[in-house]
Amino acid sequence: MNHTWDALWTHVHLATLAPAAAGYGELRDAALAVRDGRIAWLGSMRELPAGAQAAIEHDGQGCWVTPGLIDCHTHIVYAGNRSDEFEARLQGVSYEEIARRGGGIRSTVRATRAATFETLLAASLPRVATLLAEGVTTLEIKSGYGLDLDTEARMLRVAREIGRAEPVRVRTTYLGAHAVPPEFAGRTDDYVTRVCEEVLPALAAEGLADAVDAFCETIGFTRAQVERVFDAARRLQLPVKLHAEQLSDQQGSQLVARHGGLSADHLEWLSPQGVQALAAAGTVAVLLPGAYYFLRETRLPPLQALRDAGVPMAVATDCNPGTSPMPSLLAAMNLACTLFRLTPQEALAGTTRHAAAALGLSGQLGTLEPGKVADFALWAIDRPADLSCALGFNPCVGVVNAGVPRAPRPPQGGRCFDQPGQ
Ligand code: NIG
Ligand code: FE
Repeated sequence: MNHTWDALWTHVHLATLAPAAAGYGELRDAALAVRDGRIAWLGSMRELPAGAQAAIEHDGQGCWVTPGLIDCHTHIVYAGNRSDEFEARLQGVSYEEIARRGGGIRSTVRATRAATFETLLAASLPRVATLLAEGVTTLEIKSGYGLDLDTEARMLRVAREIGRAEPVRVRTTYLGAHAVPPEFAGRTDDYVTRVCEEVLPALAAEGLADAVDAFCETIGFTRAQVERVFDAARRLQLPVKLHAEQLSDQQGSQLVARHGGLSADHLEWLSPQGVQALAAAGTVAVLLPGAYYFLRETRLPPLQALRDAGVPMAVATDCNPGTSPMPSLLAAMNLACTLFRLTPQEALAGTTRHAAAALGLSGQLGTLEPGKVADFALWAIDRPADLSCALGFNPCVGVVNAGVPRAPRPPQGGRCFDQPGQ
């Protein structure tokens, strides 16, 4: 048989994460070939087809190859600095209390509204670079720190620009129902009307939103209000997802499942009924151990019930300036294991196969299988579990986006937060 490939990686170990394979889908002493940006062939070195030819051959030197990592829940585009809130929380002030005092999300809204497109982009790029250096090839970015049309659109344009300028696939999510902006204080329903009737249609018309999210919580929006947002999303044929059951059980998971949502995220207070609803709908449970860690929560998501019900579990950073200032998906994997007791294998499936599902991209991304987009990362590790085992160490030695290798550029420096006082 005559195989002509654009590129071939030899002498690698593969963790394919293919659903039909057991465990990590390990394939040792293997090779992987790429044609037209997609995986054309993979198998053991011994099975390399005789006469196979590749325009470029890369010696993988015994590295492990995984699907490119997917961070399926971030608020990485923001301005401002909230380390004062970190200090306050350490003094015993709760996240809810800070929000009620006008801090929290609203503090970031003030700073983000004041930031230009260029400022926001410059502030976000160092955080993005940190993720990309860890083998991230797909990144979800939410709005939700503007709350008015201009600023929400600006955030999403910055997100799109990141996808254009950087070697990463970006999926955008409109999170208008994140908090009630000050100009709508005491008029939450009117704000929801604005979200549904003005902002969302305008953003959709500009092609700025790939999905719609909301924050269903006592300090956020009620189920009835979220339902209005979901109905508006459906009218525009946009998929939905939800910040659900983070601080209390609002039965948001049942709601997002009923709307055929892509994912329900956080889930510390998820009930048995919520688990069943997610399982029945095939909605992904997105675990965000960074927020659990930074808020020093004590109530764990019902991991065993999710497992028993067969709910796919993704893991993401939730990177944001308040509850999870953590632009590291490897750190999220470690915390998912140490705090939530995921197995390292579940953590890796959670940042690859199930994270792809949480973005509605399972058909194209998330596993190493012929026909899928050739997004993958190369790691100097002995076993796939090493990715979750360490904290604060990055063994990524190469990244390939749609068949094109890029060096794992070190982060460029820059601030995780903006200047204080903004
Ligand atoms: O996912 N829970 C709501 N939204 C974010 C927090 C955003 C913020 O505090 O700025 C979250 O934790
Ligand atoms: Fe979030």
